[in-house]
Amino acid sequence: MKAFALCLGIALLLLGWAPLTTAQPACPPTAPDMEGPFYKPGAPTRESTGKGFVVSGTVKSAGSCAPIAGARVEWWQANPRGTYDDEHRGTLVSRRDGTYRFETDFPPPYFGRPPHIHFKVFAPGHRALTTQLYPKPGQTEITFDLVVVKQ
Ligand SMILES: [Fe+2]
Repeated sequence: MKAFALCLGIALLLLGWAPLTTAQPACPPTAPDMEGPFYKPGAPTRESTGKGFVVSGTVKSAGSCAPIAGARVEWWQANPRGTYDDEHRGTLVSRRDGTYRFETDFPPPYFGRPPHIHFKVFAPGHRALTTQLYPKPGQTEITFDLVVVKQ
């Protein structure tokens, strides 16, 4: 019986099956989400596009969890009146420890969509990521790590 179990274990390893007890990867990639029609490249570099809602997090490499310095993070969102404008577009670069932070207005729901902020992340050596953040009404701050996949 022991020999059978050993053979089965070896066979599973050869097939590339992980044991059932293997945990999820520590840093699964951030799920991509729609770009939508309102993206405009070249948003100005700044750390504020409004007041009252602070977004911060770390840009990380999927799998290794290594923080990524020098990643370009762009965001855009509807203004408090529910329309997109240039005042609610920004770009910043992740710090040496991979972190980023900006303050903005809380995004309103619009066209039947829940409150959201769009993101694009361009990290050296990694695939570009387009995603969205969905904060809950009443939140004043949120942590949103941006986990990107190596090229
Ligand atoms: Fe949107």
